[in-house]
Amino acid sequence: MKKYNICIVGGGSTFTPGFLKSFVRMQKEFPLNKLVLFDIDEERQEIIGKFGEILFREQFPELNFSYTTDIKEAYEGMDFVFMQMRSGGLPMRAKDEHIPLAMGLIGQETCGAGGMAYGLRSCVDMIKAVKDIRNYAPEAWILNYSNPAAIVAEALRREFPEDKKILNICDQPENVVRSCSRLLGCDWKDLDPVYFGLNHYGWFTNIYDRKTGKDLLPKIRKMIKENGFLPQDAEQRDPSWLDTYGMVETIMNDFPEFLPNTYDQYYLYPDYKVKQLDPNFTRADEVMQSREKRVFSECREVIKEDKLGDKFENISDAHAEMMINVATAIAYNKNNRHILIVENNGIIENMQNDAMVEVVCELGANGPRPLSIGKIPQFYLGLLVNQVSSEKLLVDAYFDNSYQKALEAFTINRLINDAKKAREVLDALIEANEGMWPELK
Ligand code: G6P
Ligand code: MN
Repeated sequence: MKKYNICIVGGGSTFTPGFLKSFVRMQKEFPLNKLVLFDIDEERQEIIGKFGEILFREQFPELNFSYTTDIKEAYEGMDFVFMQMRSGGLPMRAKDEHIPLAMGLIGQETCGAGGMAYGLRSCVDMIKAVKDIRNYAPEAWILNYSNPAAIVAEALRREFPEDKKILNICDQPENVVRSCSRLLGCDWKDLDPVYFGLNHYGWFTNIYDRKTGKDLLPKIRKMIKENGFLPQDAEQRDPSWLDTYGMVETIMNDFPEFLPNTYDQYYLYPDYKVKQLDPNFTRADEVMQSREKRVFSECREVIKEDKLGDKFENISDAHAEMMINVATAIAYNKNNRHILIVENNGIIENMQNDAMVEVVCELGANGPRPLSIGKIPQFYLGLLVNQVSSEKLLVDAYFDNSYQKALEAFTINRLINDAKKAREVLDALIEANEGMWPELK
């Protein structure tokens, strides 16, 4: 069995320890030769890197593991590059969330004004990173889950139209499927979903029982009404995530036809969410106080003791497991089903061909083969056409250095929807993102 070389871009992320542990746990399914962490933040990555050295020394000694800030060392000879960069780090995520919220607009990591601010930063950094990767590893599969994935996917589609080895993926649809399995009391792998939308803006039309073909969505709908909805790993989640999953019940009461992605809450209830969110303590603040503190302090303890002990035993690794499954599907031509972000080209029949949509695909060595959806109902079409327009205009703003396009992207976005507010928040975000955004003229 061939052993693979992997690089993780964003090695200093709070998610990295979960990935490292999963590489150990899944070494039979996905054998590794070499694993390199890459980050531009040397100090942050070193803590995770030293933790990794101890973990692998104890549990996977044959692995050739290292961490670096050098692009050649990071990318040369790689088969897969996992991209989990956060442009501007958590401090900029906090600004993306605080600035719009202070103006009475949704401030969120990937949706609305905050998502667009992050989007322009990510366009700059992701395009540069992909060029660097292609310089040293022309054949590597680039598996991107850096956010905002919808905007990043659109920018990469335009910058690298011939590159068929870039795949954009988000874990949230799979998280919702896993949460359904918690409700049903089954294995999530027994569920076979049908899903359509854009990244962080989609719906499940059916959730089939993989063995019998029976559609379980009516049963799931009833169970959500009776019991509410919890993430599969609810015990490890912060309060805001439990609220988010709870909103699925609200959405299903108003729009019972399909099962929503949790992010739909921002688009369907923007006023309610603005009132509910605290402009002085957003999700970024919660992450910095909870996951970030916990991960780094546990890593430091492991380093101090020079042994793993009982640290990170309960770390949530569904995301890592999903990414390793995606890589395995490509490596061994498995043609397993995954929900991926791909160019529409008729998959959703009544949407434009060049939209980057999120749908179920079979995934193997030759990349994703999407399963067709057909026409979607007018309500969903209207919402999605609005959002895809905003995303495309924002990417126009990036490529054309155009303030006007950015203003249009912000104005048409459902979470702003007013030209004066759009200009106000755009101007504030231009100031906050100085040096990290393309110049908008
Ligand atoms: C889900 C989404 C990701 C997002 C993450 C935020 O996994 O799919 O796109 O980045 O949630 O989680 P956090 O715990 O950092 O708020
Ligand atoms: Mn996501």
